[in-house]
Amino acid sequence: MIKKIGILTGGGDAPGLNAVIRASVKAALALGWEVLGIREGFEGLLKPDLVEELTQSNVAGILRLGGTILGTTNRGNPFEYVNKDSKEEKVTDLSELAVASFRKLKLDALIVIGGDGSLTIAQKLFEKGIPLVGVPKTIDNDLSETVVTFGFDTAVSTATDALDKLHSTAHSHQRVMCVEVMGRYAGWIALHSGIAGGADVILIPEIPFNLEAVCKKIEERYSKGPKFAIVVCAEGAVLKEGKLITKGEKEAGREHPHLGGIADFVSKEIQERTGHDSRSLVLGHLQRGGEPTTFDRLLATRLGVGAVELIEKEKFGEMVALDPPRIVSVPIQKAISKMKKVPTDSDVIRAARALSISFGDES
Ligand code: F6P
Repeated sequence: MIKKIGILTGGGDAPGLNAVIRASVKAALALGWEVLGIREGFEGLLKPDLVEELTQSNVAGILRLGGTILGTTNRGNPFEYVNKDSKEEKVTDLSELAVASFRKLKLDALIVIGGDGSLTIAQKLFEKGIPLVGVPKTIDNDLSETVVTFGFDTAVSTATDALDKLHSTAHSHQRVMCVEVMGRYAGWIALHSGIAGGADVILIPEIPFNLEAVCKKIEERYSKGPKFAIVVCAEGAVLKEGKLITKGEKEAGREHPHLGGIADFVSKEIQERTGHDSRSLVLGHLQRGGEPTTFDRLLATRLGVGAVELIEKEKFGEMVALDPPRIVSVPIQKAISKMKKVPTDSDVIRAARALSISFGDES
């Protein structure tokens, strides 16, 4: 018999997190369950003062809010815990403490809303005996077993809006604008916003590029007119035989290294090789903020209710997923075992190529 559940949000935030929390809390309360909000991701399982009861009034008015009322972190992995308040980067396994505190809170189940990193932690905690279910979240859309993750649509809309705005200034100054978007090792945001925002070149991790092809496309564009160009670079895009551009090594306790710098690199190379004035900008965390789109609110709400239904059926170790038109469930293990990358033979890539958008791999 389920009486009390916990809910937490882990990893980078994404628009729609609050919509999931609201939906799960409302659905759980309607079943007569008690709900505890575990703040700051898994960190909240290690510190009792980060736990609070969630009631109807806590979730009123949060449907359209960006961020997460529970807070989040991509550093609170209990299996490789690094105390963020200490200068010492000592890594400790506190997973037993997380399990013990779950029991002490008298929780019957836990909802983990997260991307690949948080769901990998969730899977390990599930294997240690915590009955939990997952909700897929990431603006990067790189989680397998779900057609799309919530947050992605909002991030793409934000990036597309930025590209729309950059068109006029690029045109006025006859410039190349190189825009860096998020997505880590997958090119979903770059591809979708690049097409929707009318980019001339889209560089994604799945298609290693060469600068000759990129510059050839820019020259063609300038010779035929109009004399400006928009280049969208996924932060994880790589040169053929090149390597990822990062801002240093992965720090202890973090899921991934900081990516960044590709747009600046490409912009400088374009200016040097073609002589056309070029500028770069990084959209960065703008893509993670703001109100979720209608699509993301609806998806997040369906997933939040779906998570409660999974708990009701005691289908632990499973994650809710979108398999249109239905919300289904899949083992978390399956979803985290492989990253969902852009298929290079997809109709979306074909459509872009048909419009003469360059991926920097043309001969
Ligand atoms: O997972 C989403 C994401 O936004 C990535 O696209 C990006 O590389 C990363 O998070 C940045 O995370 P943060 O700056 O919060 O560590």
